[in-house]
Parts: sequence; structure tokens; C-alpha cells
Amino acid sequence: MRLGVNIDHVATLRQVRRTFEPSPLFAALLAQQAGAHQITLHLREDRRHVQEEDLELIKRVVHLPVNLEMAPTEEMKRIALRVRPHRVTLVPERREEITTEGGLDVVKMRPFLEEYLREIAESGIEVSLFVEPEEDQVRASREVGAQAVELHTGRYANLFNAHRMQEAQEELCRLRTAGEKARELGLRVYAGHGLTYQNTPMLVRALRDVVEELNVGHSIVSNAVLWGMQKAVAEFLKILA
Ligand code: PXP
Repeated sequence: MRLGVNIDHVATLRQVRRTFEPSPLFAALLAQQAGAHQITLHLREDRRHVQEEDLELIKRVVHLPVNLEMAPTEEMKRIALRVRPHRVTLVPERREEITTEGGLDVVKMRPFLEEYLREIAESGIEVSLFVEPEEDQVRASREVGAQAVELHTGRYANLFNAHRMQEAQEELCRLRTAGEKARELGLRVYAGHGLTYQNTPMLVRALRDVVEELNVGHSIVSNAVLWGMQKAVAEFLKILA
């Protein structure tokens, strides 16, 4: 499986102080050096973490494919057509949410999305839709012209984290069934949300032959902070010596 590293929360840490560090661009370059296959970032309408400048810089400097997560708005479409990431992933967005909750309701939004996606698809940008692992959502994704779906793994992650293993296994079965259906329809299949160092191994064992790529953000950034803490403190102490 390939790994898309989502650098949103590097930007979250910077925006807490509206300063210059930590730099999402540097984080993306380090992820590239470590062997990541893609950089994923979500430009939210309220710009609470990633800024347009981050997207532009990362697209220009990093050699990996860039996956832009965005809400299906006219503003975001304009930005995508200007910056031309390798892929856009459409996600639902609500201002008051802490993180993306639930997948895009492609079934309900079908006529809108058919129209919305035309120009993006014509421009050569790959279109992926972030959906719940449900057959009707996958089928509708194909019908509106997407080339890929990203299956929402949040429910699986929550069940695993709560040690509800039987239900977590059942959710993996749902993910597998939806993934197989998507492949049958000719869609590429990605997955993500809520994945951690603990809950990912079981998911990989179950879905390795169906899902091509995982997008992981919060857990990687969280662990990067802790794994880097010792060195960061040691370097500061050198200044004081
Ligand atoms: N995939 C999508 C579509 C997302 O919206 C997010 C969160 O921005 C992720 C993956 C990554 O989720 P997490 O930060 O929980 O790893």
C-alpha cells in the first residue's frame, strides 16, 4: 500500500501562534525523504490550518504528487484549477466540526457533482471522493465521473480504539465489500481517517489487496512531535550552555 502523508496539523501548530514554524513545506520535504508516496493537505474554507501559500509552495517544491482535500465550493474549484494538484479529494465540510465527519453524500449531491466535476476532470486533475463504505455511494461516485474513492475509515478507527473488536472486524468487512465494488466499477480505491500506529496493522492485513493507498495525518504528526522532543530539548540546552 502507498502512504499519503497529511500535513494539516503541522500547519495547525503554526497557526496557533500565526508564526513561521513549524513549516508544512519542510514537513512535506522530510516526509518525501522518508519515502512517503504523496503529500495530502486540506485547504479548509476557514483556513484554520493550511493556507493557500502552503499549497502553492508544496506543489512547486516537493516532487511527490499532491492530493488536495477540499469542499466542493466554487472558490476551491478556482484554486484547484490554478494550482493544479495531482488529485483533488472532495470532502464534506462544516465550520463547527473538529475534523471531517462522515463522507460526502454523493447520492444526494449527484446532479450538483456531475456539473461541478466536469471542468476539474477536463483539466487532467484526478478526482477522488471521500465516501462512507457503502455500495450506493461508490456507485454514485462512478456515475458523477470520479476516478477514485477514498473510503472513510473513521468508524473502524473509533471501534478499534474503543476495543470493540468484533464490530471493528465487521467494519473492515464493510470497507472490503465497498472497495471490491469500487474496483469492479473501475475506480481506484484509497482509504483514510483516524488511522494510528495501533489500528492500522489490522486494517492493512484485511484490505491490502483492495486498497491502494492510505492517507494518514494526525497520528503521524503527533508521533513526530514526541519522537523529536528529545533532540529539540537537547539542541536548546546547547544554546544555554
Ligand atoms: N482522508 C481524508 C479525506 C481526510 O479528510 C483526513 C483528515 O483531514 C484524512 C484522510 C486524515 O485523517 P487523520 O488526520 O485522522 O489521519
